[in-house]
Amino acid sequence: MSMKRVAVFTSGGDAPGMNACIRAVVRGGLYHGVEVYGINRGYNGMIKDDMFQMDTHSVSSIIQRGGTILKSARSMEFMIREGREKAYANLKNRGIEGLIAIGGEGTFTGAEIFYNEFGIPIVGVPGTIDNDLYGTDYTIGFDTAVNTALDAIDKIKDTANSHERTFFVEVMGRNAGDIAVHAAIGSGAEVVLIPETNTSITDIVRALRKAERRSKTSSIVIVAEGNQEGGAIEVVAKVKELMPDLDARISILGHMQRGGTPTSADRLLASYLGLGAIEGLLDGEVNVMAGMIKGDLVFTPFRDAISKKKPIDEEFLRMVRIIR
Ligand code: F6P
Repeated sequence: MSMKRVAVFTSGGDAPGMNACIRAVVRGGLYHGVEVYGINRGYNGMIKDDMFQMDTHSVSSIIQRGGTILKSARSMEFMIREGREKAYANLKNRGIEGLIAIGGEGTFTGAEIFYNEFGIPIVGVPGTIDNDLYGTDYTIGFDTAVNTALDAIDKIKDTANSHERTFFVEVMGRNAGDIAVHAAIGSGAEVVLIPETNTSITDIVRALRKAERRSKTSSIVIVAEGNQEGGAIEVVAKVKELMPDLDARISILGHMQRGGTPTSADRLLASYLGLGAIEGLLDGEVNVMAGMIKGDLVFTPFRDAISKKKPIDEEFLRMVRIIR
């Protein structure tokens, strides 16, 4: 099927590099002679018919910008059939024959349902800082988020060293510990707590005591927000029950990890996957996410991308334990 008009949108949590990806989709589509529309605010824009035709200038000078020029949202209305019917009617009305969805798990869950109900071809691009999607080595935004976290932790370490304190730094990652593990290795943290494995409070205390015995006067504990012992505030309260004299401070990095200028790695990945996704869509790929595995473009069914778990690299966890 040769398509004449497609649309691109961003949905879910924004991620640095989404703009670079939109740019690649638009310029790639135009190169292949296809009209490209931008949909504002993800699925909400589809339901509200908030779309516009994009040209090459629509994406000028955005490759270096964080956030998304198309805005993003987590749409409640799209979760119900009526909302999706409205969305489909609007797309049909405008003659849009295919979609590029840039987002994460929630975005692709919606995309899969939409495709199954209405048969509109959709190719996804993994845009989330969490790096929690199966079918790609890295998601767009992850590298920037880790570097942002590291920049903050480096600064925190100055204070930790000066005051001989232990800092518990909470990073994002509801279900995935990738940001935490990479930040822990990069910052030389003593302990890392992630959702995928259970590090008990006793384990943390043991590691901190061991650091003390090695005459370390300050320590960093990286806490992924979704880990099994709770967020940094909860974890510190529990640790203090066993180490009442611990001079502990908490720093929650939060949404700063989602913003900022994308790194070169994210710009490259976003451009590669954006072009790969639009070319895949035009070649007949449907209901799949475009990912990069060991440097190759790979299409993975939405079902697998969202339901299969990308395992945390055990070697990385071993590294934290040995070289801390
Ligand atoms: O999925 C990306 C993410 O940044 C998670 O790491 C975090 O838990 C969540 O989004 C926060 O979502 P919101 O911006 O809606 O609070």
